[in-house]
Amino acid sequence: EKGGYDHFMLKEIFEQPKAVKDTLSPRLNKQNDIRLDDITLTKEDLDNINRVYIVACGTAYHAGLLGKNLIQKYVNVPVIAEVGSEFRYNDPFIDNKTLMIIVSQSGETADTLAALRMAKEKGARTLAVTNVVGSTISREADDVFYTWAGPEIAVASTKAYTTQLVSMALISLDMANKKGTISNSMYHDLIDELRDTPAKIDKILDTSDEIKKLAEEIYNKDHIFYIGRGIDHDVAREGSLKLKEISYIHSEAMPAGELKHGTIALIEDGTPVIALATQDKLYDKTVSNIKEVSARGAKVIALSMLKNKEIDQSADRVIYIPNIIDDLAPIVSVVPLQILAYHVATLKGADVDKPRNLAKSVTVE
Ligand code: M6R
Repeated sequence: EKGGYDHFMLKEIFEQPKAVKDTLSPRLNKQNDIRLDDITLTKEDLDNINRVYIVACGTAYHAGLLGKNLIQKYVNVPVIAEVGSEFRYNDPFIDNKTLMIIVSQSGETADTLAALRMAKEKGARTLAVTNVVGSTISREADDVFYTWAGPEIAVASTKAYTTQLVSMALISLDMANKKGTISNSMYHDLIDELRDTPAKIDKILDTSDEIKKLAEEIYNKDHIFYIGRGIDHDVAREGSLKLKEISYIHSEAMPAGELKHGTIALIEDGTPVIALATQDKLYDKTVSNIKEVSARGAKVIALSMLKNKEIDQSADRVIYIPNIIDDLAPIVSVVPLQILAYHVATLKGADVDKPRNLAKSVTVE
């Protein structure tokens, strides 16, 4: 059942090229246009929407953050992303001009479901992104977009996340195209890049043994920091969550520029800092932050694209990912972080598929 892998988590990490392809291909036609037959939102509906909420928990929330970024950038509508357990208590602004996007692998998470019900009650249009056909959330939302990731058994979410990222991209680009807020060339460039993501993920999977060597260098540490700016910070949060939930090492993700407002005090000789620097417009600033922590003794593992070869001058180790358009980098950049967390956890002898204190689906508020 584990298909020759030691753990479900590893199997699911390696299933990502297929999961991404399965989520993507049925939504693209021969002309390379997005066709979301499962979503009934029309141009008129979209023109009526003046605010989007994205609500989810844990890893699904991290995927939602990419949706926020892409919708704001390409659809030009303000987006508020919130975790399910906070959303209802923050007096959300919801009316019949609100679109509520719910992201949930299981479709059963209690706080996320409660958020969906509240949004419906207040007249919002609701769209669920879920992996489980027939789940409660899929039955209650106005529209459902399925991530075709296949069953995810490991508690730590991997292929659900990458397929949620792809879903966020498809939904945002389709909205932008319908509303005419994206140029045709940008729209098709991004779709071409999406099509290339399974092959790029495959390239990273081939380097699993090299990533294991990095894991050997950090698995006995007590604290590990993840830093990044913009959507790199969102992926940093996901990398950090992955590491802590399965390896039990304390880790924190920080916006790289926020470090010097407090957290940098924790950096000492040998503290591992995993620094994501995939975003062109933020690259130089992130490299400065790498130098700041390095100067205080941090052991920096940078994660960047092949085109930024010279980052090896500033970091102790580098994980290179294939070049990809910045906006879609998370689909690829999270994969080495999943593999790193997996190897750290196995080196520590942890129960990777069933970490302590956690359940696959959180059905209490
Ligand atoms: O089923 P859901 O996507 O609603 O679950 C949300 C979170 O509970 C889930 O992503 C959790 O954070 C995972 N253990 C992360 O690996």
